[in-house]
Amino acid sequence: MTSTVGKNIPHDSATGHVTGESLFIDDIPFAKNELIADFFGSPVAHGKILSLDLSEAQKIPGIVGLYTYQDLGGKNLFGPILQDEYLLAEELCEFLGQPIVIIAGENRKAIAKAKAGIKIQMEELTPVLTIDNAIENQQFLGDPKRIATGNVEKAFEEAAHLWEGVFCNAGQEHFYLESQAAIVYPGEYDTLTVYSSTQNPSEVQEVIAHVLGLGQHQVVCVTKRMGGAFGGKECQATHPATMASLVALKTKRPTRIIFNKDDDMRVTGKRHPFQNQYKVAFTKEGLITALKVDFHSDGGYAADLSPSVLGRAMAHAENAYFIPNVEITGRVCKTNFPPNTAFRGFGGPQGVATMENIIEEIAFILQKDAYDIRTLNCYGVEERNQTPYGEIVQKNFLPQIFKDLGERAHYKNRLSQIQAFNQQSKTHLKGISMTPVKFGISFNTTFLNQANALVNIYLDGTVQVSTGATEMGQGVNTKIRQLVADALSIDIDSVIVMPTSTEKNNNTSATAASSGTDLNGKAAVDACAKIRSRLAEFASEYFAERQKDLKASPEHIVFENGQIFDNRSPQESLSFKQLLRLAYQKRISLGERGFYATPGVNFDWTTGKGNPFLYYTTGCAVSEVLIDRFTGDLTVLQVDILMDIGKPINPGIDKGQITGAFIQGMGWVTTEDLRYSETGELLSHSPTTYKIPNIQDLPQIFNVDWIENGDNTINIKQSKAVGEPPLLLAISVWTAVKHALSFVSNGNVPKLRIPATNEEILTRLTDYKKPNSTTQPGSYEQVGV
Ligand code: MTE
Ligand code: HPA
Ligand code: MOS
Repeated sequence: MTSTVGKNIPHDSATGHVTGESLFIDDIPFAKNELIADFFGSPVAHGKILSLDLSEAQKIPGIVGLYTYQDLGGKNLFGPILQDEYLLAEELCEFLGQPIVIIAGENRKAIAKAKAGIKIQMEELTPVLTIDNAIENQQFLGDPKRIATGNVEKAFEEAAHLWEGVFCNAGQEHFYLESQAAIVYPGEYDTLTVYSSTQNPSEVQEVIAHVLGLGQHQVVCVTKRMGGAFGGKECQATHPATMASLVALKTKRPTRIIFNKDDDMRVTGKRHPFQNQYKVAFTKEGLITALKVDFHSDGGYAADLSPSVLGRAMAHAENAYFIPNVEITGRVCKTNFPPNTAFRGFGGPQGVATMENIIEEIAFILQKDAYDIRTLNCYGVEERNQTPYGEIVQKNFLPQIFKDLGERAHYKNRLSQIQAFNQQSKTHLKGISMTPVKFGISFNTTFLNQANALVNIYLDGTVQVSTGATEMGQGVNTKIRQLVADALSIDIDSVIVMPTSTEKNNNTSATAASSGTDLNGKAAVDACAKIRSRLAEFASEYFAERQKDLKASPEHIVFENGQIFDNRSPQESLSFKQLLRLAYQKRISLGERGFYATPGVNFDWTTGKGNPFLYYTTGCAVSEVLIDRFTGDLTVLQVDILMDIGKPINPGIDKGQITGAFIQGMGWVTTEDLRYSETGELLSHSPTTYKIPNIQDLPQIFNVDWIENGDNTINIKQSKAVGEPPLLLAISVWTAVKHALSFVSNGNVPKLRIPATNEEILTRLTDYKKPNSTTQPGSYEQVGV
């Protein structure tokens, strides 16, 4: 019964997912009297509702109710940062598919007929569908943001080299396998019990209560698990849950809402597209002396989490590099799309990709290898270690990881082989690139860094633990189980993590920012420690009573392998179960609530300074790619990853997270291509047209490893958060493509957008063959090189 912390305990749903025993929302059996809810959405991306006629739809057999904003008692608006989001459109529609009418019916056939029977007249307005267009119209969400240090203008004046350009990335669909879903059961006193596939049960509870005019105490939100979330259920599970709640409250009947895949893809937000203007100064050796980046993200029609996402992009703009003079500014553009939202990395990937693109270009301009530019600029260990926002990068292993991974992956050797290959091959091109990540761990909104937990111990020695953490596949429940068993020195099989419920844990933060285990694990261990200290006190008295010369002293009580004893007389011991029974009979509480608030984190946007992160999770990846010169077809030949994830609580789960995050990031930078019509309709709204990586797209050789590091004593069990950071390592696949293109770009900096689809690559290759091609679209300008 030794501690399992640091061991490969199987994921607590590993078997259930394979056998089908794991329950997802739509697996919950239909209740007697249950209704289905769905919605009718805007036929245009931007327009005014002139008339809405529900009379025909109402008559359809099986239709029980049709609800508009007028049924909401004026509490239609909500949102996590700004309250600018409508549950149901009022007069104005701001994206295609925006819900206008909630339809409640006995069956899906009736609902489909009702949808077809709704008559709507719209006055079409011109939609704003690009960042450029939003800037032209000065349409923004939230305030401008700024982070700066040093003197950028002076450094530009003194620079040996200056370079500027625009970097663009497209969005990304979350592509969780379980669509947005909720089932709501109405109860007495106008209470609602909501089963929701959400990362954020407290927010679901809060928004339902607000929109329906209930007290939060009347709404319980329960989440057993999600079939994937990736940030897409941090805010946007709220809408379907609230729609079903409205129906349940009005009809007093259980109500189920399950978005189909196409609707889910059409009406929910995505990773933010960004368009970033940059200017960089550097020496002839490639040392960066100044950086200026102006970020513009596409926020969609409402703020959602966009201001925070922008903030994280800006706080990751320098990635792993020390730059003495920096000016980072940013704005969220308002467009006629669904609100873009959290997606694994939360703006970090967009900030880091901008920087890594710049490094590739500096290398090209100086005709040096990008690896040398990166190591030259990397944050130092004792000096050159302050970020533009003022936080010191502590215990920095990046220089070591660069060196170790360079050697392990034979980077320099392979680079020479690739150079030779590209000279000789007429059919293919190869590229190689190593990129780092330095991901700040903590919510960048300081107050969210808190968690509570409830630990109940039963007389047979078994334990139920409940926290605000939600399981989305990432293994947080398994890790919390390990931590609780460890904290009580009992067998892991004696511990179960219960479904997340607002009834047990109140005012919780979303499981997000990779900090689910950091926060909730700490809160759970805090609860265990409190119970344990009561038990230790009781046990010390118990042993003292039985041994004349022993003075009761809780510090001498040891919990070890399920046994409890006084270490001054270890021959007499109690089992955990015996101790519990005795303590219970002495009326000692065997349940406890724990709490944790991350110490020392802060950030002030008025100054752009602070210590927003408790620590950084870091790492590097080397990717080698092969491109077919005639088709643009991309193959990822080899990926080597080396990270600092501290001491993993569960190495197997962490390896899964690194692997999965990398492949998901690879999808973003290569094949996943959101295509829209000129009217703002998403054309790639199903797996047939939207290409996520499959088994054949995996790197042919894929090595994942991490360094030994027991130094992260600031976090639980010296671990480091792992959920999001490795996604950013996939940027190395994209920079490797850029590297490959640099061999044939006729002396021009090869430009490339994210995603580098086969089509995008082929377009670039074709461009180079045109006479006088600069390969650069108009907006890219080279200055003073
Ligand atoms: N892993 C799986 N299997 N499914 C998911 O939805 N979401 C990611 C990551 N790993 C996700 C996942 C995101 S966006 C975050 S923020 C973290 O898990 C959240 O969980 P954690 O804080 O417990 O790591
Ligand atoms: N990550 C995820 N969600 C968030 C964050 C973050 O850093 N900040 C506020 N909400
Ligand atoms: Mo993750 S994007 O913080 O849900």
